[in-house]
Amino acid sequence: MDEPAIGAPVMIDGLRFVPMIGSGEISRGIAAVAGALVERYRDRNPLMICVLNGAAIFHADLIRLMPIALEVDYVRVSSYDGGLSSSGTIIFTASASTQLTGRNVIVVEDIVDTGRTVDWLRGYFMERGAASVEVASLLYKREAHMMGNPPEYAAFEIPNRFVVGFGLDYRQQGRNLPAVYLLDDILPAEG
Ligand code: IMP
Repeated sequence: MDEPAIGAPVMIDGLRFVPMIGSGEISRGIAAVAGALVERYRDRNPLMICVLNGAAIFHADLIRLMPIALEVDYVRVSSYDGGLSSSGTIIFTASASTQLTGRNVIVVEDIVDTGRTVDWLRGYFMERGAASVEVASLLYKREAHMMGNPPEYAAFEIPNRFVVGFGLDYRQQGRNLPAVYLLDDILPAEG
């Protein structure tokens, strides 16, 4: 991956991605989600569970904007094969170590696409005794959503298109980009 100039497209594995949401706008979106969560979870000691790898950056930014008592944990799931579409199967490769009984869980995701991953996680945490489970996602593809409830908190709704950056990858590349980039797959009109 070439080093991106601000506002310039980036190439990853032969595909071109163009800037979509800049880092300043992302910061403001995360601050808005943090504000809503602080309102709701003050004095409830929420357990903020980061879904690795994609949500690592969003989660780190979000929790630092929440000056209330809270705890963090991490899970690792995989529903994508690393390419442009979901494999359809969720593989849970590392689970939370915190005792979940009676906890108010906030699942922190990078993106809710079909909803399959967070729907599965909601069920998993409730089965293990969580008192409540809500979802905070950096991005939400409303048009692609087909399973379970939408995220209670989403910093940005985006079209049903493939994106990278700010934690999201294409073939494990691009997670370190400080902005969100959109796959430039619109071919120029002929003629
Ligand atoms: P879902 O289970 O279909 O909602 O997909 C959720 C997971 O798919 C996310 O946590 C991402 O890892 C991955 N994903 C979905 N859309 C994209 C995208 O546009 N770019 C990169 N990863 C994506």
